[in-house]
This record gives sequence, C-alpha cells and structure tokens, in this order.
Amino acid sequence: MKLWGGRFEKETEALVHSFSSSLSYDRRLAAHDLRVSEAHALALEECGVIDASEREAIVAALGELRAEMERGDFAFADEEDIHTAVERALVERLGEVGAKLRAARSRNDQVAADMRLFVKEESRRVMALLLELMGVILERAREHLGAVMPGFTHLQPAQPVLLSHHLMAYFEMFKRDAMRLGEAAARADLCPLGSGALAGVTFPLDRGMMADELGFGGITANSMDAVSDRDFVADFLYALCVLSVHLSRMAEEMVLWSTPRFGFMELDEAYATGSSIMPQKANPDLAELVRGKAGRMLGHLVSLLVMLKGLPLSYNRDLQEDKEGLFDAVDQAAAMLRVMTGALATATFDVVRMAEAAGEGFTNATDLADYLVRKGLPFLEAHAAAGRLVRACMEAGKRLEELSLEDFRAVEPRVDEDVYEHITVSACLNARDLPGGTAPARVEEALAEAEAWLESRRPRP
Ligand code: ARG
Repeated sequence: MKLWGGRFEKETEALVHSFSSSLSYDRRLAAHDLRVSEAHALALEECGVIDASEREAIVAALGELRAEMERGDFAFADEEDIHTAVERALVERLGEVGAKLRAARSRNDQVAADMRLFVKEESRRVMALLLELMGVILERAREHLGAVMPGFTHLQPAQPVLLSHHLMAYFEMFKRDAMRLGEAAARADLCPLGSGALAGVTFPLDRGMMADELGFGGITANSMDAVSDRDFVADFLYALCVLSVHLSRMAEEMVLWSTPRFGFMELDEAYATGSSIMPQKANPDLAELVRGKAGRMLGHLVSLLVMLKGLPLSYNRDLQEDKEGLFDAVDQAAAMLRVMTGALATATFDVVRMAEAAGEGFTNATDLADYLVRKGLPFLEAHAAAGRLVRACMEAGKRLEELSLEDFRAVEPRVDEDVYEHITVSACLNARDLPGGTAPARVEEALAEAEAWLESRRPRP
C-alpha cells in the first residue's frame, strides 16, 4: 500500500518495498517513537493544530499501543518502518484525529530523535555493566594484594609487578571507556524535533518544551544538520569499539594465562568449554569469542562512517543503514561485558606459579644496573655490566642472585655484599615507589583511589 497520498498511480513493487523496509529491526525503537509522538502531540496542541481533547485521545491511544507492544500483541502489518506502523495504528483507532499528528513533522526528525533517545538509554545500560566489571577488577585486585608476577614487554619477561597492578591497568582503560560513553551520551543529548524534513516547520512548535518532555538537555541548532547528523551514533560506536578492544586485550591475556604453558590462571569450569574430540580440554572459548567480536565491532563503526562520508545534505535514505550495526554493537558489548565479568569473578589465579615466574628470565637485571648507578657508574656502563653478568648466568645456568660476590666483582669491582638485597623480587617491587609505580604501597593507594572513583560513579538508589 502507498501511504504517501495522491501523487502515485502505481503501487510500490513488492521487491522495492521489502528492500527498503526497516520495520523488522527499527521496531526496536518503538518505545522511543511513542514518546516522541507524545511530545509532538503536546507541541501541536500548544500551537493550536489540535485541541486538548484530541491531544488526550492521541496520548491515550499511544499508551494503548505501548502496552500492546510491551505485551507483544501489537499487530504489525507490512509497514515500511516503525513510524508508519504507529501512524497506521493511530489512524485505525482514532480516524481523522490520528491523521492530524503528522502535521509539522517528518520521519526525518522523528527517527533522529528516536535514535538519540536510544543512544542515551543504551549508553546507560552499557555503563552499568562496565561499572560492574570494574568492581570485579577491584575486588580481585584487593583480594590478591601482594601477589607478584612477571611484567612483560614484547611478551618477554621484563620486570616483576604486582598482579593487582596488572589488573588495575585494565581498570584505567575501562575508566577511560566510561568517560567516552558519557561523552557519547552527552553528544546525543540534543532534541532535533521541529527540524521537519530538513528546513524546519511552518508551525511555531515549542522546541524547548519538547526537549524537556523527552529529557534532552537542549535542542539542535540547524535543521539540515539535525536530520542528517549521525555523529552521535559514530561517537557511541567508537566508545563501544575502544571498550571492546580493551575487553579483547583482557581476553587475550585470559587465553595466554590459562594455557598450562603459562599456568597463571584457571577459568572456572562454568566458564570453560570442552572439545568434541579431546577429552582433556578446557578451552577459553568465551575469551576467544570476545577477542573475535572486537573485529565485528570495528566493522560496525567503519560501516557507519563510510555510509556517512558521501552524503549530500540533508536526509538521505542511506541513513537508515545506521541501525542494525548500532543495535548489534550495543548487544554484543553488553554480552561481552557480562561474560568477562563472570569469567574474571570466578577465575583462580595461581599465585605460586606467578611468583616463581616473577623471578625467572632475569627480571631483576634492570635493578642490578640501577644498583650500579647508585655505586657511581653511568647508566650505559651499568647496563653493559649487568648485561655481561646476565650473559655469565646464561652460560652457567644460574640466576643473577646465585652469582658469588667474586663472580660479580670479576665483571664490576664496585659491587658489594649489599647487591643481593637489591635484586630480590620484593626489592624490585618496593623500589618502584613513585606515583603510578608497582611498589605495594603505591598500588594500595591506587586501589583506594580507584575504589573511591567507582563508588562515586555507582548509580544511587
Ligand atoms: N526508516 C527511515 C530511517 O530509518 C525513516 C526516515 C525515512 N524518511 C524518508 N524520507 N524516507 O532513516
């Protein structure tokens, strides 16, 4: 059926109708679309296009539609999109009164408003899940305060660190994600209603009132931009993308740490999966899927940006392609957060294995060089001397701390008996005693700060 009145003599080809219909997915915007229509009805009443009783009838009918949709018994027909489905149902119920609601608006400003409401709401949902994961990170970090592990660069043993310091590196990443989510929500927080198809409308709608009704912080400034702007979707997708990149990095460490070759972590059985052929396997599939999905998230961001880049002002139907990627991205992000939160909360850390590994691979070589600096050597010479001592250890199959004083002095005569107390794992940790460092006292400070930050962000009851 043609909804757009008298201009056409032909019905739309079925193929074209199904090709262009978005109802199968934009029905997800139904609740937002109904709210937008209520605000519009109020504005129409204020400027005399409908009277109070008509507005009341419209709002009551919109309420019925909402209830039916929530119960799942609203009868969608084969409409082009959610906006036409709602309008069709209103006209069915209210006749002429229902048909009045289309005055002074367009699906172009309507869908922009729906999308902005959606982004605002979903960013809150993702934020709540993110804060939960951050809470679990802090719990595990506090529980394991004191546990040591090797820190890596290039995935080669580098210097000892606290497990809590390592875990809290993720807290910092997620803290930035929380800020990005908040910024994306703020970018979406302007109401485009009143922009009409592109140029504004000829009735004096109270745009500020509609924005207030819908909980927006303000109104958009330019009608042509407002109907074609999806930057707020790009901002949100970018925030979700970076978040999923962080989740993916964490997932990669779960994969590494849970392989027996590392043996740092064991996933709870409820979070590991078996093999159809190898009876011994307990695989970290969930972490691998998180890692895999990060690519899909980036795909959604790239699709949106590429879709936007060639659009002339103002609205173009290409913009309808903004939805499925967004919906999928937000669902995937929520699922990834949930599963990582559960996996991290239930995983077991093998702190004995980690502590052993912390001292393997000459992770105290930097501290030996720093010791020599304190004895007066320029760092370049200290580095070279420590390197020669590492070499000697490799040949003798020893650790640095297993060398005799004579062995040390053969390479560098300024070494004293006190060298041994400077190259233990705990000396290495304690020495990094500056803000941001891994010294236990600093990590405890950072943990307390992180806990306070999280507490301040938790939604109040
Ligand atoms: N389904 C459309 C979208 O999502 C709604 C706006 C359609 N506007 C139009 N003039 N065809 O973008």
